[in-house]
Amino acid sequence: MSAAGDFWAVILAAGSGTRLAASVGGVKKQFLNWKGLPLFWHSASTFSRIPRIKGLVFVFPPSELDEMKERVAALDEEESLGLPFKIVSGGARRQDSVFNGLRELPSSCSHVLVHDSARPFASAGMINSLLDELDKGAAGVVPAVKVTDTIKQVEGDVITSTPDRSSLRAVQTPQGFPLHLLYKAHELADSEDWSVTDDASMLEMMGEKVMVCPGEQSNIKITNPDDLRKLEEESMPVPCTGWGYDVHRYGEGRPMVLGGIPIPGGPQVVAHSDGDVLHHALADAILGLFGGGDIGLHFPDTDASLENMSSGIIVKEALAKAESKGIEIVHVDLTIIAQVPKLAPYREQIRKNVASVLGQPLDRVNVKATTEEKLGFTGEKKGIKAVATVTGLRRTDMDG
Ligand code: CTP
Ligand code: MG
Repeated sequence: MSAAGDFWAVILAAGSGTRLAASVGGVKKQFLNWKGLPLFWHSASTFSRIPRIKGLVFVFPPSELDEMKERVAALDEEESLGLPFKIVSGGARRQDSVFNGLRELPSSCSHVLVHDSARPFASAGMINSLLDELDKGAAGVVPAVKVTDTIKQVEGDVITSTPDRSSLRAVQTPQGFPLHLLYKAHELADSEDWSVTDDASMLEMMGEKVMVCPGEQSNIKITNPDDLRKLEEESMPVPCTGWGYDVHRYGEGRPMVLGGIPIPGGPQVVAHSDGDVLHHALADAILGLFGGGDIGLHFPDTDASLENMSSGIIVKEALAKAESKGIEIVHVDLTIIAQVPKLAPYREQIRKNVASVLGQPLDRVNVKATTEEKLGFTGEKKGIKAVATVTGLRRTDMDG
């Protein structure tokens, strides 16, 4: 059996985050900035990547509703969710917020996933498994993990019993249900005055069979100050690589310069700026670290102001652009390919100068020179080429 209507998700972000507030200057945890975006937005973008999800309802604290309407519109403008979404205010308890969210769902919605925005690590793979179970007709499905600690029932400080650990599960969100069942459960909870901490509890109290499916150890709920470390760990920089390649023709033109070092007696080159093929390849590699296009885009050869300009400036500008994207260069490997002139005598000088232009220690910069064994245009002494590989580390807390 396949679900007849649409799947929507309700993203709960209406809590006050009291257990965390003191360590984060009073900010409600769902609004903490993580990887350049508010925490609640990460779940929204995970749901938006799941084709079976047809829309989202965000539930925010009433006091922040107007502000959040603007914020979500701005975030969606920047990188569209590609889904319809609604925004509603939450209630005093989690279950009140859920109910407010359910009331916003359109009539085309047959199934709903309720998710705590304080769980930013829930994966699309896990959510898809929940949807599969709902598609098969489950009355409710909840991600669950086995507990590793022995759990005690206590009264005050005294243990009263020890439930069998093998039958215990710690449950997470999103939790998925047919909408009509969850709606009925919330109506009952209101009329019967049930107070619960998750949605599955209500269906259990109605006698419905709610299933568990494998949850994820990583799908933690950011709750206590210690959990902030998880966000920090996840913000570890990620490596990125840029590659650059450039060719200059020999001919009546400019005196040869490589990596900012003049090469006396070398053939002249026909090229723009100061004709430094190595710096041009290096600038292209730096732009490659962050999807920055190529130097032609930033420094067009039709721009007369670039005439004779030192290519060191081009490299420095490319570097500044990379840094503004949160990228730190950690290594540079350069190769110059030419039959003539002989470059070995200049190699160390070039290396030192490139390191200084980039503000790098010397051991992070390598310069090699080679010939192509008299083959091709370099072998025929018609020109020179250079290739550059640059390794960077990108800060993920600036990702957008
Ligand atoms: N939540 C909600 N409305 C409420 C209470 C909670 O939408 N009235 C949401 C929270 O924003 C969170 C999720 O439900 O995403 C799980 O709740 P919890 O972890 O308890 O968050 P808070 O209630 O905000 O935190 P605390 O209990 O520490 O105050
Ligand atoms: Mg709470």
